[in-house]
Amino acid sequence: MELDHLSFGFCLFLIVSSSILCDSNAFVPADNYLIDCGSSTNTTVDSRIFLADLSISWTLSTPKTILASTTENSVSSLYQTARIFTGTSSYSFPIQKQGRHFIRLYFFPFRYQSYDLTSATFTVSTQDFMLLTNFQAPNSSNAVFKEYSINITAATLTITFTPLGQSSLAFINAIEVLSVPDDLIGDFSQTLNPKGTYDGLSKAVLETIYRINMGGIKVFPSQDTLWRTWLSDRSFLKSENLAKFVNFSGAINYLPGGATRETAPDIVYSTATELQEPSTVVRPLFNLTWEFNVDKSSFMIRLHFCDIVSKAIGNLYFNVFVNGFLAVSNLDLSTLTVNTLAAPYYVDFVAAVTDDSSKIRVSIGPSTLDNVLPDGILNALEIMKMNTTSASLDGEAFSITDNQSKKKLGIILGSAFGVFFLVLLAVVLCMVLRRKEKKIKKDKSKSWLPLSNYRSSLLSSTSKLSNETTAASGQNGLGLQFPFAVLQEATNNFDENQVIGVGGFGKVYKGVLKNDTKVAVKRGNSKSQQGINEFHTEIELLSRLRHRHLVSLIGYCDENNEMILIYEYMEEGTLKSHLYGSGLPPLSWKQRLDICIGSAKGLHYLHTGSAKAIIHRDVKSANILLDENLMAKVADFGLSKTGPDLDQTHVSTAVKGSFGYLDPEYFRRQQLTEKSDVYSFGVVLLEVLCARPVIDPSRPREMVNLAEWAMKCLNKGQLEQIIDPHLAETIKSDSIKKFVETAGKCLADYGIDRPTMGDVLWSLEYAMQLQEAMPSTLELDSLHRISQLSPRVNALNNDLLEASPNAGRNDLSDLSMSSVFSQLLKSEGR
Ligand SMILES: *[C@@H]1O[C@H](CO)[C@@H](O)[C@H](O)[C@H]1NC(C)=O
Ligand SMILES: *[C@@H]1O[C@H](CO)[C@@H](O)[C@H](O)[C@H]1NC(C)=O
Ligand SMILES: *[C@@H]1O[C@H](CO)[C@@H](O)[C@H](O)[C@H]1NC(C)=O
Ligand SMILES: *[C@@H]1O[C@H](CO)[C@@H](O)[C@H](O)[C@H]1NC(C)=O
Ligand SMILES: *[C@@H]1O[C@H](CO)[C@@H](O)[C@H](O)[C@H]1NC(C)=O
Ligand SMILES: *[C@@H]1O[C@H](CO)[C@@H](O)[C@H](O)[C@H]1NC(C)=O
Repeated sequence: MELDHLSFGFCLFLIVSSSILCDSNAFVPADNYLIDCGSSTNTTVDSRIFLADLSISWTLSTPKTILASTTENSVSSLYQTARIFTGTSSYSFPIQKQGRHFIRLYFFPFRYQSYDLTSATFTVSTQDFMLLTNFQAPNSSNAVFKEYSINITAATLTITFTPLGQSSLAFINAIEVLSVPDDLIGDFSQTLNPKGTYDGLSKAVLETIYRINMGGIKVFPSQDTLWRTWLSDRSFLKSENLAKFVNFSGAINYLPGGATRETAPDIVYSTATELQEPSTVVRPLFNLTWEFNVDKSSFMIRLHFCDIVSKAIGNLYFNVFVNGFLAVSNLDLSTLTVNTLAAPYYVDFVAAVTDDSSKIRVSIGPSTLDNVLPDGILNALEIMKMNTTSASLDGEAFSITDNQSKKKLGIILGSAFGVFFLVLLAVVLCMVLRRKEKKIKKDKSKSWLPLSNYRSSLLSSTSKLSNETTAASGQNGLGLQFPFAVLQEATNNFDENQVIGVGGFGKVYKGVLKNDTKVAVKRGNSKSQQGINEFHTEIELLSRLRHRHLVSLIGYCDENNEMILIYEYMEEGTLKSHLYGSGLPPLSWKQRLDICIGSAKGLHYLHTGSAKAIIHRDVKSANILLDENLMAKVADFGLSKTGPDLDQTHVSTAVKGSFGYLDPEYFRRQQLTEKSDVYSFGVVLLEVLCARPVIDPSRPREMVNLAEWAMKCLNKGQLEQIIDPHLAETIKSDSIKKFVETAGKCLADYGIDRPTMGDVLWSLEYAMQLQEAMPSTLELDSLHRISQLSPRVNALNNDLLEASPNAGRNDLSDLSMSSVFSQLLKSEGR
């Protein structure tokens, strides 16, 4: 057993270290033609050698050889020579590796003998695509640089120059043709209006129009992994005084499955432009906008993000707009980058510019979430013109809809969102790695393993088995399907000794997969319709929702009419077992607060993390699980219901839930809102405070129901009657006061009087601040005091004071659940 751990760990170590080695290797293009046209000598630019084109004249066919040069010194040496064509001429490059290539063309018109290159008008095309139509280099002292990105599927690339007009001249100063990594441009992109996906990018011919490094200085080809140029964003910013330029000196954490150094290099991700921090308590309700002039056409817009500004995860949420459309709502980089700071992330949009103003505007703006500081960043931006016909880049904009791709949803989920799901899988991976690392006592630095390896090691049986299982299938399509045999083996054929819990749904077994990953296997026993419904609800919800404070679904099995769900194993069991009845050592006040905060975050995410709020319906201490670090995760979504539509106020439903936690209003009116969860969570808070069961029939009548009894005591100011005696020593009175007050508000009779989960979360975090504050500060007006401790809290305070929990909020109803992002959309049921 121990040996297994060691060898598994060692394998991980090998894979991780080899992948680190790969990262440090610079990308070497399979095809790499660099030609200094018209030159008789090689030219070295940015430590790359552009060959004299005489030495590769075998690639060229032209009626007449004219090599031109200028004495103009103000331009790069590449521009000082040119080859002039008086008739149709072409370069032919054998292609070693099919796939995407950059084609870069350098033009600088000068006068050479009787040839005036400023008068040259010509076309440039590949064998099947027109790159430049009627091109004439502007008569100024500026050079013209063009970069195209083309998926070359032929064995030879032919670039043809065709002179037009009276002068009948064409020319070129330098050419680059180089391979780029296959994954640089995926096949799928999002659309903005309507929201959806666009597929077909892998065939598109792209022309780079803008490549911008936000918050930064210009990045030169020598500093880029693919010899690209990134311009500074300053001249594109609409109001520079709203912006703050950030420069980060730490390491950029490229994650497997995400952006790579070829997507954009460290130097690009290390700078960002940030929303200017609020100077005072006034919440800055402005967007920061960059504006780019473009032709009427269709464009691929790639936004690069990397959270180099936060000190801790989960603090940065912001909105992103492209041309006035909400592109990403409440972008939460922490979640998208597996809770890693300074990890790059990018997202592509396809948009058509059809109006005559012909501008692309990209904005970042403050989040609409509660208790989130107005902030936002952008690290880099690329705007590429897309071909709108199959022959040329000069067509009109085409209308971009997601109709074509709807039927391919399965594939899209599998591939376009691949990065996203890989990232999700990485959450699980990360936990496994952490555990393994501890065991082999490696250093604490984060290590990663390619996800494909992880995925198969998760199933590590025979290859036949993994073949069967890696294809995620079924109507849910998202979860990982496990063969029944693998689960039988993992749980020792569902041995009763492995049972770690029993619920309405069935028994929960502890299981160990072949690779020593511990899992919790929940096996449904009833074939009732309710059971089946709950099974599907849970798979569907959990596959869609990922959050560090929600228990992750690893997979499921529905072979032979089985209904089995496989979850991450939570080492420390339920919160309930740590509060009473199991003889475990009592938790400290800080631990309890941490657990409450964690579970509040999980519930807050459920309520606000998708377009439609999700109501848990069975919030209780037995459904809050703790991992080995006592981090809380909310579990058991079997009863969950999607919340009210934005235009409805509640969901009517039969009363379900657990006795003692049940919202009396829900009971009375059978109408479900998120506030029912808030009520139940209030009961959990009391449970945490008092460390006793919510219903305890062994007690005197008035004490049986915890919620009733505790509220009675609290209203009489008799806190000492109910508080867990273990807490008395460690607890600070202001902290407990805030905590008790919060619990009381949660238990308000009417949902409308209860705070939202976001408000509860804030109050609990505040209680934590009070607990950790220096003793002397507590004697003064605590709210005032604390507000001076941290500007962040200060701003939050003001938010809380200004906005009553029920104040109207911006509802953004044009969002769809299918979007990849955690759309932490507020959709309060009221
Ligand atoms: C240019 O460089 C190439 C490869 O490094 C070499 O083969 C060729 O002889 C050089 N040509 C000249 C004119 O120096
Ligand atoms: C370009 O400008 C130069 C002088 O600035 C002029 O002599 C030449 O005719 C111009 N060429 C064209 C094509 O307009
Ligand atoms: C290039 O196009 C071919 C088919 O047109 C496609 O199979 C391939 O995946 C594409 N390659 C890239 C890197 O997009
Ligand atoms: C960022 O910091 C580095 C090192 O301190 C410096 O070389 C670089 O110029 C800075 N970049 C910007 C945009 O200020
Ligand atoms: C930001 O821009 C979007 C789109 O133009 C707009 O809907 C939103 O209200 C703006 N936000 C602020 C705070 O001005
Ligand atoms: C762009 O050009 C490619 C290659 O010619 C073609 O396959 C693709 O359909 C074109 N895209 C559009 C939108 O016409």
